[in-house]
Amino acid sequence: VICRSGTLTLETKNIAPDGFVRPASLINGIHPGPVITANKGDNIRVNVVNELTDENQILGTSIHWHGLFQRGTNFMDGAIDVTQCPISPNNSFEYSFDTADQAGTFWYHSHFDVQYCDGVRGALIVYDPHDPLRHMYDFDDESTIITLSDWYHVLAPDISSPAMEDATLINGRGRYIGHKGKPVDLAIINVKQGKRYRLRIVSLSCSPDFTFSIDQHNLTIIEVEGTETIPETVNTIRILAGQRYSAVLNANQRVDNYWIRALPNRAGNGISETFDGGVNSAFLRYKGARKKEPTTKQQYQQILLLETNLHPAYPTLTVPGEPNPDGADLTLPFIIKLGEIKWSFNDTPFVSTSVPILLQILSGATDPAELLPEGTIYRVKRNQTIQLNIQTGNQGNPHPLHLHGHQFWVVKSADSAEYNFDDPVVRDTVSAGDNEGDVVSIRFTTDNPGPWIFHCHIDLHLRDGLAIVFTEAPEDTDFTKPNRPDAWKDLCPIWDAQPDS
Ligand code: C2O
Repeated sequence: VICRSGTLTLETKNIAPDGFVRPASLINGIHPGPVITANKGDNIRVNVVNELTDENQILGTSIHWHGLFQRGTNFMDGAIDVTQCPISPNNSFEYSFDTADQAGTFWYHSHFDVQYCDGVRGALIVYDPHDPLRHMYDFDDESTIITLSDWYHVLAPDISSPAMEDATLINGRGRYIGHKGKPVDLAIINVKQGKRYRLRIVSLSCSPDFTFSIDQHNLTIIEVEGTETIPETVNTIRILAGQRYSAVLNANQRVDNYWIRALPNRAGNGISETFDGGVNSAFLRYKGARKKEPTTKQQYQQILLLETNLHPAYPTLTVPGEPNPDGADLTLPFIIKLGEIKWSFNDTPFVSTSVPILLQILSGATDPAELLPEGTIYRVKRNQTIQLNIQTGNQGNPHPLHLHGHQFWVVKSADSAEYNFDDPVVRDTVSAGDNEGDVVSIRFTTDNPGPWIFHCHIDLHLRDGLAIVFTEAPEDTDFTKPNRPDAWKDLCPIWDAQPDS
């Protein structure tokens, strides 16, 4: 655990989290990386040291702090092409930013190519010492974080699309079908009978979403991606790449071992695997239970979490704009499409830039057309309500859509025909829906100047073009300048060629 400040050293090493040995990109020697914790209002200061040696990864790295707004610190957002140049091999970069008024369940990951699929990812928890939902649980510590990852027996650049993971990992451990020899010890979540635990369920996935459940136990959702919600009790949660939930587990069953299940639903082909032999599983173990594998069965009746049933606990989070489908200051329609090889919004795949967009803006470029091809960049004014209507154009595929620098109101979930301008869920990563023709509508307020990327969190889709950038009030980007410009310029030799602003 890293509390508030510390060092993340990225290095290439062999690991076998599912029994299969392969080189991985580790953080401080482990996968997932250490849990980073802070309190609401804290400054987080993390030095990232790039000692990766794998030939696919030596070009660079960066860390993005998924879900944190980076208000006034856009240059700490970690998005390659957008806010920074890659941290080159044997180089380091110190990220420093405030959690400000945010608290909840977040994560961090490399935002360089598809690097996080090889291991550069971990959970980030911001505690609120005055958590208004504190009465809902007795325990909330790092042992009750549950990370879900997909895992491959090839290196990330060689993963085919759609991705077919070889295994899934819960808290970094898993099993794969076909493994010979002694099965890998799975992750164990320890509980005491009679106590209530806040589980932080974090998807670190590169591709599949997960159907998550714990045999014989209900899960009461109290937080979604940094926003407390009115408690909603279910027993099954579908969680997409990049999404997070806090769920209260009441250890009210008999002292025993129970299966924790996370069934991957592979993007694009819907094939799911089984739980045979502990694949896609971990243990929930009551204190006093025998140290053996669970023999429990899955709940007979599945109560699935529906996004439309989630509502913020505070009415202060009122939806911006007029309460009707056309009531935003600016409404932008997008169609997600898979072309010959590329994914895109509105038929324009995102392309890499040679100079990150923020640097270009700081050098005086404000005309979007100078920065990126039309259709991949949108200049938006300050203090506006922006609505995005995103339709799945072909290839039904639950794309997890993530916006940097903001959270957004899901005014229409993809799986519902109804709009909700009253009390919709607020989050930073939303499903575009399972089927062709599905539409999700989200709203956000342009209260955070800087360039922010909006993209699919299936990492291969991001690599293949499913992204756009909003340049929010570029004329006001000036105050998001790095406070240590020299360290920052080090990363971007190309910056020297730019006129200083
Ligand atoms: Cu979690 Cu742009 O990503």
